[in-house]
Amino acid sequence: MLPKSVKIGSVQTENNVFLAPLAGYTDFAFRSICRDFGAGLTFTEMVSANGLLYGSRATEELLYTAENEKIRCAQIFGSDADIMKAAAESEALASFDVIDVNMGCPVPKIFSNGAGSALLNDLPKAEKILSALSSTGKNITVKIRLGAEKGKSVAVGFAKMAEGAGVKMITVHGRYRPDYYAGEVDFAEIAKVKNAVNIPVIANGGVFSRKDAEELMEKTGADGVMVARGALARPCIFSEILEKEYVYSVKEVVSRQIALLKTRFEDGRIAVNFRKVMPQYLKGYPADKEWKKRFAQVKSTEEILRLLEEA
Ligand SMILES: Cc1cc2nc3c(=O)[nH]c(=O)nc-3n(C[C@H](O)[C@H](O)[C@H](O)COP(=O)(O)O)c2cc1C
Repeated sequence: MLPKSVKIGSVQTENNVFLAPLAGYTDFAFRSICRDFGAGLTFTEMVSANGLLYGSRATEELLYTAENEKIRCAQIFGSDADIMKAAAESEALASFDVIDVNMGCPVPKIFSNGAGSALLNDLPKAEKILSALSSTGKNITVKIRLGAEKGKSVAVGFAKMAEGAGVKMITVHGRYRPDYYAGEVDFAEIAKVKNAVNIPVIANGGVFSRKDAEELMEKTGADGVMVARGALARPCIFSEILEKEYVYSVKEVVSRQIALLKTRFEDGRIAVNFRKVMPQYLKGYPADKEWKKRFAQVKSTEEILRLLEEA
């Protein structure tokens, strides 16, 4: 795929293959690794606008960025325009270049609070939020799905509204809320969004290889692609898509991620988090199931690295 830069308001990315925000997975260490493999833009995991205002320690930690994240991009969620604007103007977000708003999250806890994909059902409220955020003068972007109800796409109308509200880029995950992360990605609907607005449109959904990225670009005409689960399994996917030479070893990537995390967290906590992270790295790994299962009980990072030696 021929990389091209994307202009997001006052900033310009190196290329148009982005790493998606993935709550619980895309910590600063993982994002740093994806940047090294070529990701053109990385986003923090979604952080609560309310949490930001209350100065929650966990929220602060989510906003820590890696040195190689040259464009700092935070994703926030919420449902109240005033709170979201105050969050955007808070000290915690002062050094961020881009603030992305999550208007696609399907999970009930977020949806029932009127945030995430619930805002696809409430354009006036979404507009109020995006206008309030844009009024801060910051580069505001938004990530959406096609709609909150299966088959009822609101994406084109939503994108036009967002552009009118001052948004600088829109990412469209080409699925509906009930799909969660499974099923077909609707290329045609993303293409309609691309044709309806003049701001950059990034297509998201189902990219697990260079071929997938090329198909998504070709069939949608989007300005770029965003990779989520495909990067968790293989962070080297960015080099693959961008046709850059690379060497990939799970052992090396995991030990790098652990070393970076150790600069901020204690060992046991990292190990427990890796019980969830390792199955991603081990997808398609030629090893017996018993060996894979042992990663689910690790208590130290040393144990993880030792187990990997046994591969
Ligand atoms: C475990 C998990 C966590 C996610 N967290 C976020 C998030 O914090 N913010 C967001 O906008 N999307 C989130 N998503 C959605 C992804 O960014 C992406 O839109 C979706 O996985 C589709 O892309 P894919 O088919 O390449 O995986 C999450 C998805 C998964 C599976």
